[in-house]
Amino acid sequence: AQTVRLAVLPGDGIGPEVVAEGLKVLDVVAGDLDLVVERTEYDLGARRWHATGETLPDSALEEIRGHDAILLGAVGDPSVPSGVLERGLLLRLRFALDHYVNLRPSRLLSGVASPLADPGEVDLVVVREGTEGPYTGNGGALRVGTPHEVATEVSVNTAFGVERVVRDAFARAQERPRRRLTLVHKHNVLTYAGDLWRRTVDAVAAEFPDVSTDYLHVDAATIFLVTDPSRFDVVVTDNLFGDIVTDLAAAVTGGIGLAASGNVNPTREAPSMFEPVHGSAPDIAGTGRADPTAAVLSVALLLEHLGHPQASERVVGAVAEDLRRRAGGSPRTTSQVGDAVAAALA
Ligand code: NAD
Ligand code: IPM
Ligand code: MN
Repeated sequence: AQTVRLAVLPGDGIGPEVVAEGLKVLDVVAGDLDLVVERTEYDLGARRWHATGETLPDSALEEIRGHDAILLGAVGDPSVPSGVLERGLLLRLRFALDHYVNLRPSRLLSGVASPLADPGEVDLVVVREGTEGPYTGNGGALRVGTPHEVATEVSVNTAFGVERVVRDAFARAQERPRRRLTLVHKHNVLTYAGDLWRRTVDAVAAEFPDVSTDYLHVDAATIFLVTDPSRFDVVVTDNLFGDIVTDLAAAVTGGIGLAASGNVNPTREAPSMFEPVHGSAPDIAGTGRADPTAAVLSVALLLEHLGHPQASERVVGAVAEDLRRRAGGSPRTTSQVGDAVAAALA
């Protein structure tokens, strides 16, 4: 039996509710795979911050680093100043563990209602850069609170950082049937960063002659995600554009409750982290209305990352079957959905 050490960070709001269902499904699959999952749960998030002022203590980070993978629910709570947990916990993990590939697939599974009348076959994956861009905290403010306040938030793009994520995106495109890669940026305005991204794609393209490439400005990309989402195969983009377009891609493929992600460190020098694309949804936390499907599909991404692609596809298949059965039915609770997916697996 293979042993997997899994760090579990349920987090805030609906995070713990959806993670419980993800683990329910993982337990079923692990039993069939003869996989022993050793879980360590970390009580990090709003409750801990209120109790101790800590977001992610160094000791917890080092412990988490010793695991094979991480499953995270969501962080952020209205009782905590915005950004404290997002930056101090979630982004700190992504940066410290060098999760430079933020993998966000969007597939319109059969039977799932899209808000688009005629979406076509949508099967795209956004490779979002995860460690740079405007997320690095490279900014500041002058004369705060005065009419002369100046706030900056500088986007950091390094040749090293851009090249490694672009190469990863090409490698993924190479393995997919359509072998197409779209760079999404805004080089008509973001002159220096746009130029670096564009030159990097052109240079790496020479190593992947079978992959065709094109380019869209991010504003136009939002048009095509709504009018013609099936045109996309692999999209590579920076941290902030990737954040925005993946919420849109989620909405188009059945909603934010279905969108999964992996924060991947392809070098495997640190554990990768799997989490729903959505947040802690304080508006529905505690009501049992959170859809755990995104968390379950994040478990599927985790299984694939751990070298179990068939088990991963089995989970996606069970989710698809559940979604088909669920179509048009009355709303179910979070745990009813998890139970139904677990049953579909059996
Ligand atoms: P959100 O994703 O939490 O919620 C947006 C809307 O989608 C809400 O109406 C919510 O009810 C709905 N929703 C989200 N997940 C759902 C699910 N599984 N089932 C059904 N409905 C769902 O985004 P927000 O409101 O912008 O942010 C809330 C908090 O979460 C903030 O503190 C934010 O910083 C944080 N956040 C965290 C993450 C993360 O941990 N990865 C991601 C996004 C936002
Ligand atoms: C996401 C979230 C995070 C991001 C926030 C909470 C830091 O929106 O995972 O999509 O912007 O990456
Ligand atoms: Mn987001």
